[in-house]
Amino acid sequence: MIWANAEGCRVTDTEGREYIDLSAGFGVAALGHRDPRVMQAIAEQKVVHALGDLAEAEATVRLRRALPRPAKLGLSGEDAVEIALRTALLATGKPGIVAFEGAYHGTGLAALAATALERFRAPFAAWLPGPVFRFPYGEDPGPLPGDAGCVIVEPVQGRAGARVPPAGFLETLRRRCDEAGALLIADEIYCGLGRTGEMLVSGELADVVCLGKALGGGLPLSAALMWPGLEGVWELGPEDVYTHTHSGTPLACAAALVVLEEVPKLLSEVKRKGEIFARHGWHGAGLMRARPGDAARALERGVIVVPAGQENELISATPPLVISDEEIEEALARLEGC
Ligand SMILES: Cc1ncc(COP(=O)(O)O)c(C=O)c1O
Repeated sequence: MIWANAEGCRVTDTEGREYIDLSAGFGVAALGHRDPRVMQAIAEQKVVHALGDLAEAEATVRLRRALPRPAKLGLSGEDAVEIALRTALLATGKPGIVAFEGAYHGTGLAALAATALERFRAPFAAWLPGPVFRFPYGEDPGPLPGDAGCVIVEPVQGRAGARVPPAGFLETLRRRCDEAGALLIADEIYCGLGRTGEMLVSGELADVVCLGKALGGGLPLSAALMWPGLEGVWELGPEDVYTHTHSGTPLACAAALVVLEEVPKLLSEVKRKGEIFARHGWHGAGLMRARPGDAARALERGVIVVPAGQENELISATPPLVISDEEIEEALARLEGC
């Protein structure tokens, strides 16, 4: 299937066949595809590309002000995770990473070290940083190993299939980090920015919060939000020692400003619409849902979902947050028995 057109919650392929998109393109299109406000903000920009960390465009500066905490900006989710892990190393001097079964944090080397999917890790095992201490998701890991500089956790696991941990899990991790002098990193790249009905699932608990996916309104943008003061660990001399040519790319920042303004208005509706999925047997939270199923068969029925779970035994639904009740009902009816 080749995407020829994507508008709102509908995608049309090059054969002219229309699909309901329950994926939002891996959870990216929170406001729907080609949201007019996002498209307009992009079109209005007077600077398409500036000088990264040396000289930022106005849109980038405005985004920094709109984010709830000081941020180091990246391009991909993996990039935000890399920044978060490096922040922990700089802040604590300890290289160890506590991570969880089922975790997906991206495929760059540092993120891959924390990722749990063995088939992704095995080819690069010789190069992965660490040590990494892995624990069952949702359980108290106990006192942290002495060389653990951070705990990285998805507040709701995405790729593992919309796994919601028991209440109090993040608070327990916060306590374990405090006891050990480690940072708590919340990877909210999938579950954050309204997906579960909260702007940040981890609230005020984490030292660093990773955002990506929905942040750029469809353009590549990510951010590692830090507790005020923590960003000081990055003052390592006259040059930024972790940066990219396109860091803080203005068009994506302009789109992100729209996302940050519009998504908070949708939160209660996200929770309500999530209940429609729940009534049809989908587990998860808000509009981050999964159930056993076959993504290829779903596509044949005209619904885009993404495989999830350890062995891709689940289908996951992370539709645009603006999806209508009628579109949800239509998609779920098409998916019956699939
Ligand atoms: C929780 C989480 N973290 C990190 C990533 C990596 O993001 P990206 O694919 O943009 O590098 C993903 C991607 O699915 C994710 O779900």
